[in-house]
Amino acid sequence: MAVSIDAYLTPFFHEHESLFEDSAVVMIDVFRASTTVAVALMNGAREVIPVETLEKAVKIYNSLSKEVRFLGGERNCLKPSGFDAGNSPLDYTKDNVYGKSVILTTTNGTRIFQKAKQARSRIVGSFVNLNAVIEYLTGQIENSDDNLKIIFMCAGNDDRLSYEDILCAGAFISALESIYSDNYISDPAMAAMSLYKQHSKELSAFLKQREHALKLSHLGFEQDIELCLSFDICPVIPLIEGSSIKKYENKTIYI
Ligand code: MLT
Repeated sequence: MAVSIDAYLTPFFHEHESLFEDSAVVMIDVFRASTTVAVALMNGAREVIPVETLEKAVKIYNSLSKEVRFLGGERNCLKPSGFDAGNSPLDYTKDNVYGKSVILTTTNGTRIFQKAKQARSRIVGSFVNLNAVIEYLTGQIENSDDNLKIIFMCAGNDDRLSYEDILCAGAFISALESIYSDNYISDPAMAAMSLYKQHSKELSAFLKQREHALKLSHLGFEQDIELCLSFDICPVIPLIEGSSIKKYENKTIYI
């Protein structure tokens, strides 16, 4: 099976109509939006609604009934005033989000979740759900009659490249490369994989010293950093459909 793998290492690219046709896109914002989405869905949120602006988030929140709504997000990594939670995945506990619509607005992550609407499927990936995402992608590849492109999209930070997102893309690409021998790997995807391989043995220690982790740590979010850098603790597949993100359930019925 020939697999074509590509990556966008920053959110800065010209998005034209056909760019994501025939592709499955994985959206990555390790610190912390992708991780928060995976944790919220694992803890039973019925959906996460990603929103770009604070105003729109509050408007959607006000339109929902009290029992089923939860408003979260950050600006400059901190909880906006009046919100139920910030962007710490630790705030998205079962007690807080079970059965609720989580409205989430963050600086970088929720912006990329709006991209690639023409793709065949869009999912949210991070270290915490790495294997679940790989299983989903292999299923999509095996069930596709034609060549499916797999694209990794990194949120970056303030329109600039960020190391944790690239290394996470590299971890996905490396896993796919070990399954499929006949691959086309684009230059950005190859760069992400090479960097991941270079740092895989001391991934956590290395990323803890990079820009975003240092900023989070300075603000007292050390536990978030640990959680965001833990592999496979949230085995869910957050699937973006229309304006919301829901847990993908494999609906195949075997008889
Ligand atoms: C973002 O979307 O910019 C981030 O998730 C920021 C953060 O809360 O660390």
